[in-house]
Amino acid sequence: MKITVIGTGYVGLVSGACLADVGNDVLCLDVDAAKIRLLQQGGIPIHEPGLEAMVQKNAAAGRLRFTTDIAEAVNHGVLQFIAVGTPPDEDGSADLQYVLAAARNIGRYMQGYKVIVDKSTVPVGTADKVRAAIAGELETRSAAIDFSVVSNPEFLKEGAAVQDFMKPDRIIIGAEDAQAIELMRELYAPFQRNHERLLVMDAHSAELTKYAANAMLATRISFMNELANLAEKLGADIELVRKGIGSDPRIGFDFLYPGVGYGGSCFPKDVQALIRTAQESGQQLHVLQAVEQANETQKTVLTKKITQRLGPDLTGKVIALWGLAFKPSTDDMREAPSLVLIADLLARGATICAYDPVAIKEAQRILGSEPRIRYAATPMAALDGADVLVIVTEWKEFRSPDFAAIKATLRTPAIFDGRNLYEPAIPRKAGLEYFSIGRL
Ligand SMILES: NC(=O)c1ccc[n+]([C@@H]2O[C@H](COP(=O)([O-])OP(=O)(O)OC[C@H]3O[C@@H](n4cnc5c(N)ncnc54)[C@H](O)[C@@H]3O)[C@@H](O)[C@H]2O)c1
Repeated sequence: MKITVIGTGYVGLVSGACLADVGNDVLCLDVDAAKIRLLQQGGIPIHEPGLEAMVQKNAAAGRLRFTTDIAEAVNHGVLQFIAVGTPPDEDGSADLQYVLAAARNIGRYMQGYKVIVDKSTVPVGTADKVRAAIAGELETRSAAIDFSVVSNPEFLKEGAAVQDFMKPDRIIIGAEDAQAIELMRELYAPFQRNHERLLVMDAHSAELTKYAANAMLATRISFMNELANLAEKLGADIELVRKGIGSDPRIGFDFLYPGVGYGGSCFPKDVQALIRTAQESGQQLHVLQAVEQANETQKTVLTKKITQRLGPDLTGKVIALWGLAFKPSTDDMREAPSLVLIADLLARGATICAYDPVAIKEAQRILGSEPRIRYAATPMAALDGADVLVIVTEWKEFRSPDFAAIKATLRTPAIFDGRNLYEPAIPRKAGLEYFSIGRL
């Protein structure tokens, strides 16, 4: 099939590459000329396991191309995927300006039947707005061309995006038009050969399903974070509690890890947007409001532990920081808890020496040239001259460090572990003080 993907970011590039990989002819459009130039030259703008090789293979085969030419992009695909950003507006609601700009472009240039597929995470009712935007442009042109709008929210996880797209748990299709549904079935057939994973529903339910999924996951995290904080007060070990409740199949083990709060480009903004959507409909989502509040508090939990140990004034202290990305296997730092921690530590006078396997460049872009942040080339190099070690992202390479070497290097041999990576007895046996989230 001929497919156009509008917006070549984390979702657009992964979707485009995976759709090309099963044989489709994909053209990816973006307004960011530098990004498109990089992709045309064989480079890749993001870190995502398996993506670079897939992009290069399909580009070389001529099935995956990149452009900034809107007319060319609109005329290429019968299927027009919209995968542009939907960042939070000032009031927390999803900003639809990029989605609607993409829709208007389609209406402006389309010459024949198109199925417009909303992959961006968008509030309930957006498919109707996209339809109206396209219809408005067609009317201006006095063009009577048939089209259909489908809601097809994306559930991929950064860090495992290619795998998630190739082997989805479910494919949600919000549509009523039989021709469009048939096209979507055909498109997704290669991704569900084992058994049918397509769930067809109305567009409003499809749009709400995406927010409900992220809201539920965020709720589990905030719930566990609050329980972990309570466990510390009560002298209980949250890791044992996690195992104790996770073994109930109604609860399950996934997404019950306490930490430093959720971040990333989705949970914070989607939780806010859903709260906002509810408010606009005259309803309060009390649970979700508390989820967000608990998350904001949790992002400061490491600073509290550090200042309890070292005192409130951190002037002259050097903090080694492991992990900048909002989670492992990505360089994405949007809403990363590390950014809140770094701001708190800098405000208290500390100097930071940070290490991350892939996100240092992104951190430098976001944080600029702050003289009190240095970046190290290896985890151990970050400890040179440091007082204590703080762990923010659970990269695999942090799981089994040389505790004796850490003890020998740090001025105050203490680890503040925001991800509960270690059995507490192990660093303690090496003579380190070990502070975790909710463990004894
Ligand atoms: N990142 C994720 O893990 C993830 C997962 C599921 C869903 N989503 C949703 O998918 C959407 C995209 O997220 P992302 O992380 O890929 O965003 P992103 O910021 O990485 O990419 C968006 C891209 O769209 C481009 N763009 C903006 N306006 C455009 C236009 N009019 N025409 C062409 N290109 C345009 C931008 O230049 C950018 O490259 C969001 O709604 C997000 O909530 C993201």
